[in-house]
Amino acid sequence: MQQNSRFVLLSLSLLFLPFIFSNAEKGHLFGGWTPIKDIKDPHVMEIAEFAVDEYNKQSNSSLILQKVVKGETQVVAGINYRLVLKAKNGSMAKKYQAVVWEKSWLNFRNLTSFTLVKVFWKLA
Ligand SMILES: *[C@@H]1O[C@H](CO)[C@@H](O)[C@H](O)[C@H]1NC(C)=O
Ligand SMILES: *[C@@H]1O[C@H](CO)[C@@H](O)[C@H](O)[C@H]1NC(C)=O
Ligand SMILES: *[C@@H]1O[C@H](CO)[C@@H](O)[C@H](O)[C@H]1NC(C)=O
Repeated sequence: MQQNSRFVLLSLSLLFLPFIFSNAEKGHLFGGWTPIKDIKDPHVMEIAEFAVDEYNKQSNSSLILQKVVKGETQVVAGINYRLVLKAKNGSMAKKYQAVVWEKSWLNFRNLTSFTLVKVFWKLA
């Protein structure tokens, strides 16, 4: 009897494991990243403009934002925005990944990283 109910418990938890992990992948658990549904949202555009302006200031560049390609958010103490954006550097348009940390209630924004996205096989 004892043995049997333990077996049932074990089987049940194994059944639920994939469910837990697939949810974690979608970013609903553990402060994961959630895709931004509307990348044309004015606030998302504002964050992207901020990232490019800030990068230009910090590195004395003159990138011009063209569009946000995609983005994700992560709830931290505030919100992290991880955006892939297309920007022009002179005559060359390239993709960059910018991470901006925003604490809107403090009017605080910080560009935490800005890197060139390496494109290995996709040219679009
Ligand atoms: C920034 O770039 C401009 C134009 O390329 C140049 O004239 C200027 O000296 C640079 N400033 C710094 C601090 O590197
Ligand atoms: C922009 O282009 C200049 C000149 O080609 C290059 O030196 C610089 O690293 C580029 N900057 C970025 C952020 O791609
Ligand atoms: C903003 O981010 C940069 C890069 O991660 C960091 O060096 C700097 O201390 C941050 N500034 C604030 C006010 O958090």
